[in-house]
Amino acid sequence: MTATTSIHGMWSTRFAFILAATGSAVGLGNIWKFPYIAGENGGGAFVLVYILCVSAIGIPIMMAEILIGRRGRQSPINTMRTLAHEESRHGFWQMIGWGGMIAGFLIISYYSVIAGWAIAYAFRALGGAFTSLNGETAGDLFGALLGDPERLLAWHTIFMVMTTIVISRGVRSGLEQAVRVLMPALFVLLLLLVGYALTSGKFMAGLEFLFLPDFGALSAGGVVTAMGHAFFTLSLGMGAIMMYGSYLPADASIARSTLIIALMDTMVALLAGMAIFPIVFANGLEPGAGPGLVFLTLPIAFGNMPGGLLFGTLFFVLLVFAAWTSAISLIEPAVAWLVENQGLQRVRASVYVGIVAWLLGIVTIMSFSHWAFSFDFAGEEKKNGVFDLLDILTANFMLPLGGMAMALFAGWFMARASTRDELAIGEGSAYRLWRVLIRYVAPLAVALVFLNAIGLI
Ligand code: PFF
Repeated sequence: MTATTSIHGMWSTRFAFILAATGSAVGLGNIWKFPYIAGENGGGAFVLVYILCVSAIGIPIMMAEILIGRRGRQSPINTMRTLAHEESRHGFWQMIGWGGMIAGFLIISYYSVIAGWAIAYAFRALGGAFTSLNGETAGDLFGALLGDPERLLAWHTIFMVMTTIVISRGVRSGLEQAVRVLMPALFVLLLLLVGYALTSGKFMAGLEFLFLPDFGALSAGGVVTAMGHAFFTLSLGMGAIMMYGSYLPADASIARSTLIIALMDTMVALLAGMAIFPIVFANGLEPGAGPGLVFLTLPIAFGNMPGGLLFGTLFFVLLVFAAWTSAISLIEPAVAWLVENQGLQRVRASVYVGIVAWLLGIVTIMSFSHWAFSFDFAGEEKKNGVFDLLDILTANFMLPLGGMAMALFAGWFMARASTRDELAIGEGSAYRLWRVLIRYVAPLAVALVFLNAIGLI
């Protein structure tokens, strides 16, 4: 007998779930990370592989993750234990939950630091620091922030406090309303930026870079990064979406919700790319400039457009909100687990999790200055030591492996009747397509990308 509600609360409607899951998916990954990794990996071919991965791997796995979550109705660790038991499988499957919780801690630790950059930039925008910025002065402005660990620590602390407060009140209160306003506003501002990029004189160069595939520019490591990003941007492979699925009412359509979430997420990323690359080329910046790309380009746009003070401030405030609604989902599985298994009150559990994440974040802060070191990944020189290592470990390895394990569980170890009942799309071609994708295509694709990267095929 599966539970019909979660002890942690429920979304009020299917639409509320879509809002929350979109809030989780749309974040720094779309606006900060996607453009810079696309830039580092040569553009078009990378973008194509990323879109393919979202469609053939991400969408079916998101459906699997939601259905598992809704069937288990608990934190990912306990959900996996319950479902493994129900399907008469080994308890080892709960490792998916454990791995996911660790990945969540590692990701939030650097995610919060980058969100701190966005807070800093919102204040700079408001203070008029972007006025008449050019490629060089934008670099100075950004360099000054990275080289100041105390300042980074202050913003990181503020962001972690914000996240802990919301999560301690339960994911429902506030989140639904915030996302309802935030998403459309972010969309409008991105459109405005694309409009500005249109006038920059290099719009076509930007589009060509993003959409004209040059497979010579894409390494095997770049393919791993594109696949990893499909997981990261959709919040897959670590239990965040599983957790949100556990609050989903029983009669809501999983397939339709998934398609909407994936579509919105991809559109935001592509719009961000279309806004950023024309500015990159018009100002003599490098597409491969690395994690600072957004912070080097968009301030130039705001500094040179009418109303830039207002729009610039608004944009970075919205970016902080987008990061906030993603950060919440990164630690919700850990908080829910502490409540379920350690009998902690939600507030106390949230504070503990927040403190651990805050402490871990200090390593990332230092990796931009005192503790910086370089190494090579995918033919790219990575200059920011532990930050880059954490990012590669989580996005490129932990999330795809977690997602692959979920696909295998849903495809091979859950009874056909279980997944069919939960998805409730009948036995027709839609269900059969999903089953082929989840049993064969998604796991094999992840495996092939890895084997290719280590040179075995
Ligand atoms: N999807 C978020 C983004 O693109 O910014 C990041 C993220 C959130 C990744 C939650 C993983 C996750 F579980």
